[in-house]
Amino acid sequence: MTTPTSTSTPVVAHTREELAVARAALDDGDVAVVMTMGALHEGHASLIKVARRRARHVIVTIFLNPLQFGPREDLSRYPRTIDSDLAICAREGVDLVFTPSPDVVYPDGDPGVRVSAGPLGDVLEGQSRPGHFDGVLTVVGKLLHLTRPDLAYYGQKDAQQLLLIRRMARDLDFPLEVVAVPTVREADGLAMSSRNVYLTPSDREAALALSRALHAGAEIAAEGPSAVRRAARAVLVAEPLVLVDYLVLVHPETLEDVPEWYRGEALLAVAARVGTTRLIDNVPVRLGPDGGALPAFSGSQG
Ligand code: PAJ
Repeated sequence: MTTPTSTSTPVVAHTREELAVARAALDDGDVAVVMTMGALHEGHASLIKVARRRARHVIVTIFLNPLQFGPREDLSRYPRTIDSDLAICAREGVDLVFTPSPDVVYPDGDPGVRVSAGPLGDVLEGQSRPGHFDGVLTVVGKLLHLTRPDLAYYGQKDAQQLLLIRRMARDLDFPLEVVAVPTVREADGLAMSSRNVYLTPSDREAALALSRALHAGAEIAAEGPSAVRRAARAVLVAEPLVLVDYLVLVHPETLEDVPEWYRGEALLAVAARVGTTRLIDNVPVRLGPDGGALPAFSGSQG
């Protein structure tokens, strides 16, 4: 374990024992956790910033969780940038970084007992990535037990993940508050993602269709669901390099398509393959006379 050389250098814990010692020292006020798979960018930094505004201490976990990757997914090529990750944590005033290896998190190999995401884990991302959310919730549950936070911060960028973590905390009585943080975007609208480094320059250009489609849909939210879906789809079909997996306008709690008469908050979400990269993005919208894009769902921000 490394100990801090100045107040801005986080303690870095690799083992459960190191984490337990460092966590015990954070006993004077609220502790927040920000969980990541590394390759940190300004989206992750935003979670840390928002957490720091409310909590006395911030723990960041950096763990590339094999359990949430399918056999044909990008685990082996996922970017690993631990030095710059630690520099970002230091810059943001993180107290403690927990960066375990897989055998620390899963000492007996793949766990036989896992958290089941249930039906909400089988739609949208779950339909394209079977077992993904069981893998996410299992590691999130373990990391919550290990870090024992009062507050846990997750990005709206991964809206279905955020919803499922909220549900897990409620359904399984995790004693903490889950806080949502709005999506951070590049200046041209592309949602920040660790996977953006896979994009070639032409992919990168084509990928802008995702955020443009969401924007086009959100802009005419006053006109109702079918107008929103039509406007968003028109932008996507005009970009041949974007292969759409799904484009949906769903209820934020049930993830079911909203009917034409629906008014209120909804989630306009897209997943698409651009070159070799699968990207997701979404925007919370309000349908109805006062319609438009929302920064995040009401009540979901800290
Ligand atoms: P990762 O993809 O590294 O994301 C870590 C956190 O950062 C998640 O809460 C995610 O929603 C948030 N995030 C990513 N990009 C963002 C952006 N552009 N703006 C705002 N927040 C953003 O999500 C995971 O890791 C894993 O599934 C994890 C929860 C760590 C479990 O392994």
